[in-house]
Amino acid sequence: MSTQDLVMKALSTVIEPELHRDIVSLNMVRDLTVEDGVARFTIVLTTPACPLKEVFLERCNAAVLGHVPGVERLDIRWDAQVPTDRRIQGMLNAPMKSIIAISSGKGGVGKSTVATNLAVALVELGAKVGLIDADILNPNIPQMMGLGAGRPKVVNDKMQPIVAHGVEVMSTGFLISPDKPMIMRGPMLHSAIRQFFSDVAWSKLDYMIVDLPPGTGDAPLSLAQSFPLAGAIIVTQPQSVAVSDALRAAAMFDELKVPVLGVVENMAGDFFGTGGGEELAKQRGVPFLGRVPLAANVREGGDYGRPVVVFEADTPAGAAFAELAKQVAARVSVVMLQKSDVIPINIIG
Ligand SMILES: Nc1ncnc2c1ncn2[C@@H]1O[C@H](COP(=O)(O)OP(=O)(O)O)[C@@H](O)[C@H]1O
Ligand SMILES: [Mg+2]
Repeated sequence: MSTQDLVMKALSTVIEPELHRDIVSLNMVRDLTVEDGVARFTIVLTTPACPLKEVFLERCNAAVLGHVPGVERLDIRWDAQVPTDRRIQGMLNAPMKSIIAISSGKGGVGKSTVATNLAVALVELGAKVGLIDADILNPNIPQMMGLGAGRPKVVNDKMQPIVAHGVEVMSTGFLISPDKPMIMRGPMLHSAIRQFFSDVAWSKLDYMIVDLPPGTGDAPLSLAQSFPLAGAIIVTQPQSVAVSDALRAAAMFDELKVPVLGVVENMAGDFFGTGGGEELAKQRGVPFLGRVPLAANVREGGDYGRPVVVFEADTPAGAAFAELAKQVAARVSVVMLQKSDVIPINIIG
């Protein structure tokens, strides 16, 4: 066996800590060369937001150094490719790799706030991200992203998304005047959202975040049903009444066989209490993704289009959203790779 093959063999004992498979069979090791005692290769992670680089580094060193004669040092480069859900291309003819729905049991719990900060935080971690405001009747995303009345340009029959804080955004808020009610019946709502996927000139996005309408009524149900979601995030306030509403949202996704990526507890603190979100996650057997405090800077960030995760990164709320983004990215990888046996998902590349 060549030294190169021996290094590869040694690396095939390194287990990806979240996917529980070895990094060679996951096709994460690329471009391996050995020269002058240095083994050089690239590790392709399943998300640019991977919190596990240090772990990989340690495990690869331990597997190779001292086990393969003639190799004294590893030189590892990093790359990232989010797994591609190929149903999206088939069903929507849209270039994104994965779709994540943000949902809640009722309005006012911070769904749009979480969607906004999550999208921006994922961009900061190096991902390409889009944000669809599917709360068609109450489009808050433009304001929260600091976007005014600008209308999307149409080029070659496709609307251009509007970019804010590095996120590509589409919302009915761009298309109607703010003082007029949106009057749309179910099927119209539905086709409007479908157009947001198919008739917008999105780039090749890693993550499309979709801010769903609240609750488990007609609109969120039909949306959750008809788009190939990697999974859904449930946002809840901490108090018990909010949690029982969120429970119904979680049950809806179970019914639809859409994986619940986890629960976010928003507005935690003295006023609404703490712990309800964690309790809900435990009850449903899904991960608790994080807790965001009730804080004036979060509300101001929403009102003025300055997401706290960027503009107040050093505050508890800013830090909470940044950590949330890492948790979500890791969960999407795990859920997609678990599903890759049943639905056509390209495992990395
Ligand atoms: N963690 C928080 N602390 C303080 N205010 C918040 C927080 N999260 C959301 N808000 C504010 O609460 C209101 C409702 O949030 P929003 O994201 O619009 O909820 P939803 O989309 O669920 O209806 C907004 O004014 C928002 O700025
Ligand atoms: Mg909202």
